[in-house]
Amino acid sequence: MEFVLDTADVNAIKDLNDFLTIAGVTTNPTIITKSHKDPETVIAQIIDLLSPEQKLFVQVVKTDYEGIMEEARKISQLRPKNMYVKIPVTQAGLKAIKTCREEGIHTLATAIYSAAQGFLAAANGADYLAPYTNRMCNYGDGVGEVVRLLEMLEKAGSQTKVIAASFKNCGQVNDLIEAGIQAVTVPPEIVYQMVGHPATAIAVDEFSENWQKEYDRSEFFK
Ligand code: E4P
Repeated sequence: MEFVLDTADVNAIKDLNDFLTIAGVTTNPTIITKSHKDPETVIAQIIDLLSPEQKLFVQVVKTDYEGIMEEARKISQLRPKNMYVKIPVTQAGLKAIKTCREEGIHTLATAIYSAAQGFLAAANGADYLAPYTNRMCNYGDGVGEVVRLLEMLEKAGSQTKVIAASFKNCGQVNDLIEAGIQAVTVPPEIVYQMVGHPATAIAVDEFSENWQKEYDRSEFFK
């Protein structure tokens, strides 16, 4: 299971990449605008932070087929490997995903709101599918629809991976990991919630206090 960060916040990427096993970083146009930096600068900073084995997913901004392909070809060249182009599953986007597959450009089909959209993007050769889990919850059972997509792909023998996106709480992430999803992309604020539990800090304080009382020192060895 790949655990990916959904952010363009270089400080958060640096911090979380230091103590967690991070498979890569996803961005989208809105996420990049939140950095308030020039897009090419922020992407270059993220590339500097990632190892060549970690994946980077960058989304096209243009919406017509020719424009998507023009940007996809450029995005795919940003790194020698593990570079993925995110393309929304519009009609133009689906056509571009097919062309990218023919040209050997790795893609992530994004802005997926239904199992059917995801399934069709997989059939066109997308490497990853990003269903918008929380946003799908506004239309019904978001988590259930992602699980349905997983089952459809498995039954069809598809090699396409699902990287669930658009999370708003830890429960949604846990539910999909439990369902056997191949990848999740999670914003830093939710990752920090997954890491932290107030009771852990209380337990650690108690260990230190008891040790200090008994041995009058704070370390194991004298
Ligand atoms: C990532 O690939 C998606 O673009 C992102 O998770 C969307 O998240 P949002 O629903 O919070 O905008």
